[in-house]
Amino acid sequence: MNFGVVGYGYWGPNIVRNLMALEGSQVRMIADLSPAARTRAQKAHPGVKVTASASELIQSTEIDAVAVISPVWTHYELTKQVLENGKHAFVEKPFTSTAAQAEELVELAAQKNLKIMVDHTFLFTGAVKRIAQLVDEGALGNLYYYDSTRVNLGLFQHDINVLWDLAPHDLSIMDYIIKASPEAVVATGQGHLNGHEDVAFMTLYFPDKVIAHINVNWLSPVKVRTTLIGGEKRMLVWNDLEADEKLKIYDKGVDITSREGVYQMLVSYRSGDMWAPQLEQVEALRQEMSYFVDCVTSGAEPFNNGIAGLRVVRMLEAASESLKQRGALIRL
Ligand SMILES: NC(=O)c1ccc[n+]([C@@H]2O[C@H](COP(=O)([O-])OP(=O)(O)OC[C@H]3O[C@@H](n4cnc5c(N)ncnc54)[C@H](O)[C@@H]3O)[C@@H](O)[C@H]2O)c1
Repeated sequence: MNFGVVGYGYWGPNIVRNLMALEGSQVRMIADLSPAARTRAQKAHPGVKVTASASELIQSTEIDAVAVISPVWTHYELTKQVLENGKHAFVEKPFTSTAAQAEELVELAAQKNLKIMVDHTFLFTGAVKRIAQLVDEGALGNLYYYDSTRVNLGLFQHDINVLWDLAPHDLSIMDYIIKASPEAVVATGQGHLNGHEDVAFMTLYFPDKVIAHINVNWLSPVKVRTTLIGGEKRMLVWNDLEADEKLKIYDKGVDITSREGVYQMLVSYRSGDMWAPQLEQVEALRQEMSYFVDCVTSGAEPFNNGIAGLRVVRMLEAASESLKQRGALIRL
């Protein structure tokens, strides 16, 4: 499969490197508006045609699929052009700036029988795959909560706030493991430097009393990537910065019983073993790109398709509405 890649900033080089390493795919062209980015791309990949024009790349007859790795506000226009030119699209997260744009692209791809995959990279990590498996097997029991802290210093994005930058990771993970859509969203936050919120908190209410909370922050002195998932039977802690034991599962919980004639509830705390399962050690992006090539080749629909991207954008849109109203409850 011959690829074109639009956007060679921070993330684009990772996409190009992984596509180059895959059997059965080549990068034929790279487009970037920035001369410095074009120089870097040409130096790293002398055999690839580098251009300033995304349209030239998108219209090229040499190319079967385009990876859109540019800022969020450009995703809709570029992906629309890609689909109109009969090519499959791999699009960065978050898929688009509005749900209406995402809906239009999903419809266009269906009409043209083309694939859209949205880069929800974390769904291809060993940790998230294992968490999804544990939830599916019922190892955690009924879920109670998902609570994530994703904070660091920068990188400030110029076109979006910290929610649109960092929360898509957690929203796509929740969408994948909870397998239900949230009923309502509350978000609060504050911008201190460039007008966009750089510190934000988001709460999502799911059916069956499942609650989720995400803390995202570009002004944190330390980097933290820790997620707690609590269930009726077991609870887990996923520390993505940990080298070896990223995932720890605790056989801890609370049992409540009430005996006939005893009006007070009897609460007992269970504190059993902790274990850290072995996780698959492969580069998530490599697996994801390989899955994209497979889906296009076989005609299978990717699970992280445009509709999955749309679900995440809907949650982000609701969060933006809530932010504007200083934490109003927005129903989905
Ligand atoms: N999946 C992940 O874990 C992950 C990580 C980082 C970034 N991202 C996503 O990747 C995308 C890009 O982020 P980044 O951090 O690389 O941004 P960046 O600003 O570093 O790079 C974007 C590049 O796109 C170029 N560009 C912009 N408009 C263009 C156009 N019309 N034609 C050609 N080139 C154009 C810019 O010149 C720039 O070099 C964003 O959607 C971001 O959310 C995803």
